[in-house]
Amino acid sequence: MNTSLILVFLISLFYPCFSLKILSLGIKYIYEPTYPITLNTPFYKPEKFEGVHKKAVTEHPIEYPDRFPVPLNYISWNIDFRGYQPVDYTSAIVLNQPKWADPLDFDFKGKAFQSFQGNIELDPEGKPLNPIGRTGMTGRGLLGKWGANQAGDPVVTRLNPETKMLEILLIQRKDNHEWAIPGGMQDPGELISATCKRELGEETNAQIDFSSTPIIYQGYVDDPRNTDNAWMETSVIHVHLNENQANTQQIQASDDAKQAEWRPITKTLVDSLYASHPHFVRLTLKYIDPQILTYCTNYEEILKIQKELENKKSSH
Ligand code: BGC
Repeated sequence: MNTSLILVFLISLFYPCFSLKILSLGIKYIYEPTYPITLNTPFYKPEKFEGVHKKAVTEHPIEYPDRFPVPLNYISWNIDFRGYQPVDYTSAIVLNQPKWADPLDFDFKGKAFQSFQGNIELDPEGKPLNPIGRTGMTGRGLLGKWGANQAGDPVVTRLNPETKMLEILLIQRKDNHEWAIPGGMQDPGELISATCKRELGEETNAQIDFSSTPIIYQGYVDDPRNTDNAWMETSVIHVHLNENQANTQQIQASDDAKQAEWRPITKTLVDSLYASHPHFVRLTLKYIDPQILTYCTNYEEILKIQKELENKKSSH
């Protein structure tokens, strides 16, 4: 066979692949909407955690002992930290074996741990290692599961009909009094849309169906309860209610919430939220339908928060 024949043969072999690739790029281009929240696209790929945790090394719930100090540049497991002596702590609540916690005789042998962050490394005893790095504490703290403990977080927004401010439905947590998205832990086998509906209902009394709401974030949470072996992950969804939809909600705090309120979105409020929730609100403002923003009187604040997301690309 001469060279040109080989060439013709190769081109005819690969042509269908080239055209398929071009076609798929075309479909992506046509169908991938710029604002997935309003268009509800199944093509949207949620973000996950990038960067290093801060609250998981510097904060802890009141009942925890102090963490072994970990300088920020020693968080990564790839950095050698010879003197690292994390404090071992699992809360008595967890040791009491509630139904949401792993058993005390948990068998680590051959166990693979699931995480939105990717593959989970194991320590020499087979215990899962925090995907972001050291926290200064081993054991499970207040978390029931070894490895990832999954939650769901519904971000619900509206335009206040009187002030025309963009508002977010928040709760004040009973455990540490911080303001937070009204999320909660996912029950085994539960769909994340169902977790969000249930938790939102329990904490704020709002009744919202999230069954076709796209997920904007799915990954690690920089939560003060995290340890080297147990940590929080969450799926965040966002829904914007129009005036009628918002008016039908009777907001009332209960369960883990001390207060539940529509709060105007300001940079100060967002920065003060629990765990990685500031990042989740910033993400919401990245994807929210821009038409909604043109009507809001706190637009300047929204711009500041959106800008912050660009500056804080690598932190949560
Ligand atoms: C909260 C969620 C939060 C998650 C991780 C859960 O207890 O209810 O709102 O995102 O913990 O911090």
